[in-house]
Amino acid sequence: MKHSDIQQILDQQAFESKRGGPPEGFPQLADIPGDRYVDPEFNRLEIERMWHKTWVYAIHADEVPEVGSYVQWTRLGEPLFFIWGEDERVRCFYNTCRHRGAPVVTEESGKSRGVSCKYHGWTYNTRGELINLRDRRDFVDLDMSCRSLIEVRCENIGNLYWVNLDNDAEPLRDYLGPVATNLDECKPDTLMLVDKTAIKVDCNVKILLDAFMEVYHLKSIHQNTVDRFLDHRGSAITLWPNGHSRMVTPYKREGWRDPGVKGLPEVEGMEPWFRDTNYSVLAYPNFVSPIPTAGIPLLCFWPDTIDTMTIEVHWFAPSWGDGERPEI
Ligand code: FES
Repeated sequence: MKHSDIQQILDQQAFESKRGGPPEGFPQLADIPGDRYVDPEFNRLEIERMWHKTWVYAIHADEVPEVGSYVQWTRLGEPLFFIWGEDERVRCFYNTCRHRGAPVVTEESGKSRGVSCKYHGWTYNTRGELINLRDRRDFVDLDMSCRSLIEVRCENIGNLYWVNLDNDAEPLRDYLGPVATNLDECKPDTLMLVDKTAIKVDCNVKILLDAFMEVYHLKSIHQNTVDRFLDHRGSAITLWPNGHSRMVTPYKREGWRDPGVKGLPEVEGMEPWFRDTNYSVLAYPNFVSPIPTAGIPLLCFWPDTIDTMTIEVHWFAPSWGDGERPEI
């Protein structure tokens, strides 16, 4: 990060700390209609027009560590799987056979030279091409090249793989813009997956997401934890194109530094200033990553139903060498 950018954030924080009212010209904003959280039709439109047309973070390369490794992935409500191809490329496919639509992968994850449908045995290689079918004599007009598995857009920032169900979507880096530049600070091609967990919560997905886009609630909800060291009144929020944003909150005590996640190595060469403040980026619609220098947490928020959701927490770190994987 350039020093002029850091200075700009510090100036913004100083301005936020001192202001006695909204900035000049700040618009009067309407309340958010409650229907957005409970209306089934709004929920249906969100899935159709937003979730199914947006880049979302899906897996880390370590989840498909070798050629032929695959893992199922259904967070968007569609049956998908990722597989590491023999050409060293990670691809994402619909888990749907091109014969009669049965799943071609039935284990949660595994490793195979290709995938074979359990129903009638059609077999595909790791590039998704149909390479074998039983009783070929009964399929005289079948053009096998037209029966490859249906591929889903899958692009990466280093070891972090994202998907988009929309074939016409802009490239991932163009979509992420400044978020991609921020992730580059963490050297994402060197990051390894330390751990991953998922927690179910009984609320609309936007309820919890909203809470990660502001620090106004710290004094009431987190009195004994983060409110003790974060100064919510100095928080500097920057809105970026495509709904992405950044929130940088100063520490209450000067000289206090983020220790990072205990036991995890630091990202080499990363701007040390990231430890002097609480720096968090949000990639629209559901990706939040506080960026310390040691141990990178990543939170993804997924809708399960209109009033239930899952929060996925991932931790990344630079390689820890040949030793045991660090405990979180
Ligand atoms: S449905 Fe897959 S081989 Fe028939």
